[in-house]
Amino acid sequence: MSSEIEDHRLFNDSENEPFSTVLERRVSRRNIMRGGLGAAAATMFAGFGVSGCSDDENVGTDSGDNGNAGGTNPDTGMDDDDMAAAMALAFRAVAGQNGDRVSVPDGYSAQVLIPWGTPINASAPEFSPELAYTPNIQANTVGMNHDGMHNFALAEDTASSDFILALNNEYIDQGALWAPQGGPSGLEDGEGGRPPAEARTEINAHGVTIMRVARDDNGQWAPAGDTRYNRRVTSATPCKLAGPVAGSAYAVTAYSNDGNTTRGTNNNCANGYTPWGTYLTCEENWPAVFRKDAGREADDDRLGILTGGTRYGWETAANLTDDTDGEFSRFDATPRAETAAGDYRNEPRTFGYIVEIDPYTRESRPVKRTALGRFRHEGCWPGKLVAGQPVVFYSGHDSRNEYIYKFVSDTPWDPTDAHMIGGNYDRLAIGDKYMDSGTLYAARFNADGTGEWLPLTPDARVADASQTLASALNLAADDLAGVIINTCDAADWMGATPMDRPEWGTVDPDSGAVYMTLTNNADRTQDDTQATFTEGGDAITDNGVGYATAPVNAANPRADNSNGQVIRWVEPAAGATTFEWDIFVFDSIPQSGADDNLSNLGADNYFSSCDGLWYDDRGDGQGILWIETDSGSEYTNDQVLAVIPQNVSAGANDPSVINSANQTELKRFAVGPNGCEVTGIFATPDKSALFINIQHPANWPAGTDATRDTQGQIRPRASTVVIQKTDGGPVAV
Ligand code: FEO
Ligand code: CA
Ligand code: CA
Repeated sequence: MSSEIEDHRLFNDSENEPFSTVLERRVSRRNIMRGGLGAAAATMFAGFGVSGCSDDENVGTDSGDNGNAGGTNPDTGMDDDDMAAAMALAFRAVAGQNGDRVSVPDGYSAQVLIPWGTPINASAPEFSPELAYTPNIQANTVGMNHDGMHNFALAEDTASSDFILALNNEYIDQGALWAPQGGPSGLEDGEGGRPPAEARTEINAHGVTIMRVARDDNGQWAPAGDTRYNRRVTSATPCKLAGPVAGSAYAVTAYSNDGNTTRGTNNNCANGYTPWGTYLTCEENWPAVFRKDAGREADDDRLGILTGGTRYGWETAANLTDDTDGEFSRFDATPRAETAAGDYRNEPRTFGYIVEIDPYTRESRPVKRTALGRFRHEGCWPGKLVAGQPVVFYSGHDSRNEYIYKFVSDTPWDPTDAHMIGGNYDRLAIGDKYMDSGTLYAARFNADGTGEWLPLTPDARVADASQTLASALNLAADDLAGVIINTCDAADWMGATPMDRPEWGTVDPDSGAVYMTLTNNADRTQDDTQATFTEGGDAITDNGVGYATAPVNAANPRADNSNGQVIRWVEPAAGATTFEWDIFVFDSIPQSGADDNLSNLGADNYFSSCDGLWYDDRGDGQGILWIETDSGSEYTNDQVLAVIPQNVSAGANDPSVINSANQTELKRFAVGPNGCEVTGIFATPDKSALFINIQHPANWPAGTDATRDTQGQIRPRASTVVIQKTDGGPVAV
C-alpha cells in the first residue's frame, strides 16, 4: 500500500520519548508476572526458546520463560539431547540499498514471475511498453500491485514445482496503467467524468489473479500452459454474501433486493487460507472508492466513506454511459430512491469483509464471510488447528488506533474436512460450516502482559457494564448483522485497545503463538496526554466516532511511532478469551535515534514499518519468522528479514524478545527496488523457493532477473519474485 492511496501515514519525525514510562511499567510488571506469580504465563510462553536447546546459548537467559533448566522439555517430556538440532540461518545478511534492483544473499537467484499484465489465457496480448490497456485486456491479464498470495497444490508429488498461485492485486498505479496516453483522463472539471473504458479497466486491474505456475527442469518458473484454473476476480465480479449480514436489510441494493449478492472485491491487501483448501482475500482500503454525500449513518463515518468524490472517480463514468445496473453509479452511495432497494446507499455495506475463493473451481463465486467483521481488513490468518476445538481466524484493522480481532467458529474442527489435494468437492460448503456462525472478538491488551478477547455480540455488556452492545449501538436486541456492520463502534464500546496499525499476522502451528505486525502510528501520543476523537466526537463511545489520537499503552509504547513493532501472543486454547502477550521486536533505523532503538538493531537488520509476516514452519517445533517492510527509508529500500523465534528470548529487563544479546539472529534476507514495498510471502513445501511480491516499484523490473539494475526509465510493473538457492536447497538455512 503506497502513501498514494492511504491517509494514515503522515509521518511525524519529532523526538520520541526515550524509554517511555509506560514501557518501564510494562517490563517491570512482566518481571513480576513471570518471576513467580504468572505460572500460566510461564507455561504458555514455554513453547518459545526450547527447541533443540541443549546447545542453545540463549537458554538460561530467561529461565522463567522456558522452565527448562533441568534439561527436560516440559511440553514433550523428552531429554534435550533427543530433540532436533537447533536450526540456524545460514546466509550472510544483505546490505541495505537504494537501487532499481532486488538484492539477495550470495548463492541465491531472484526471478521475476507474472508481473502485471502477463496474459492468463490466449485471449490477451503480451505486455509491451506501448500496450494500450482496455477492459478486456486487463480482465485477461495479471492485475496490478501484487500483495498477499498463497499456493494451492494440484498433487502431493508436484506441490513444490506446479501449483495454483492465488495473488491479490491491491490497487492500481495509474501512471503505469495509462503510460502510453500520458496518464488517466476525465479527472478534470469540464471533462464530464471518467471515460467508462478507463474506469472498467481500472476496476479490472484490482482484485485477485488465480493462475497456475510451474518450475522447469532448469529451475525457471513460468505460467503453466494449462489455463483451466486461470481467472481474475475483480472489483466487478459477482460475489455472494454469507453470514449475519447476508439477506439482511443492511445489504439490500438495487442490484440485490434480497441482500445476498454484490459486485466486486476491492483493495485486497493481505490474505489468508483455510484448512479446507480455499483462499482468503481481505478488503482493506475500500472505503475510498465510495462516496456518500447525504444520508450518512454511523458506520459511514466510522469507516471513512468519502464525500464529494472518490479515489478514482469511477462513479463519474455513469455520466458518460447508460450505466446499466448501476455499473458505475453504485460507487456513489448517496440515497436517491424511496427505499434501499432502489439505489446503492447500502453498497459500501457489502464491502469490508474477508472473501473466500475456491481456487480450484473457476466457476465458483467468491463468498464474503461477514461473520468475521466489517472494517479495513489487512488479512486473515487461521489459528492453531485442534480436532474438536473451534476454528479460529485472526485479523487486524489497518488504520491508526484501530483493533485486532479474532473469530471463533461455533462448529468444532472435524479433521475429515481437511483439504484433500486433488479432490473434487464443494470446498465453499465447508467454509459455510466454519465461517458463517461463530463469535467475533476484539482484543484488549493489559499492561501486565495479559489480554482479553471481548465478544462483539448483541447481548455482551459494554465496558462499563451499563447496557448491552445492541442497546449501545441503537440496534434491536438480537441484531447481530447490525453489530457486524458497526464492528468498529462495537469494539470501541467494549474497550478494545487502539493499536499502531495492525498489518499482517501469522501463527506458529506448533506452539500456537500468533505474531502480528503493527506498522507505525503517527497519531500515538505521549503517556500524559488524552485521547482525541474523529468526527469532532467527545468520547470513543460516540457512535460513528473512533480514535483520532491515543496515548501510548503497554502494547504500543512509543509515541510518534514511525517504525512499528511486532507483537505476539499465546492462548491457553483455540476458543480461549484470554491470552498472554509480549513485544517480539521494535523496528528501528539509524535515523530514528538511539533512544528509539529498543531492540538494539544494527546494520544487518535495521528496518522500519514491519508489514508482511509469515511463520515458515520447518518441523520439529522450529520455523522462520519472515518480516517484510513497507516504508522505504533513507537507510534502505523495503526488505524482507528472517529470524528463528525459537532461538531468541527476552532477558528480564529487555523491552522485547529481540534485544542486544540476540539481535544478530535477525538478518536481512532481501531488499527490493526503489519505490517498492515488499509484501506477500510463502515458500514451496520443500522450501526450495521463496515467493515474495514487489509492489509499486518506481522503475523495475529490467527483464526476468530481478537483481538486474534498470537502465533508463521503464514502464514499471509490480511482480512476484521467486528466490532460490543456486544449489537447489532449502532457502535461508
Ligand atoms: Fe495494504 Fe495495510 O497494507
Ligand atoms: Ca465509537
Ligand atoms: Ca500491507
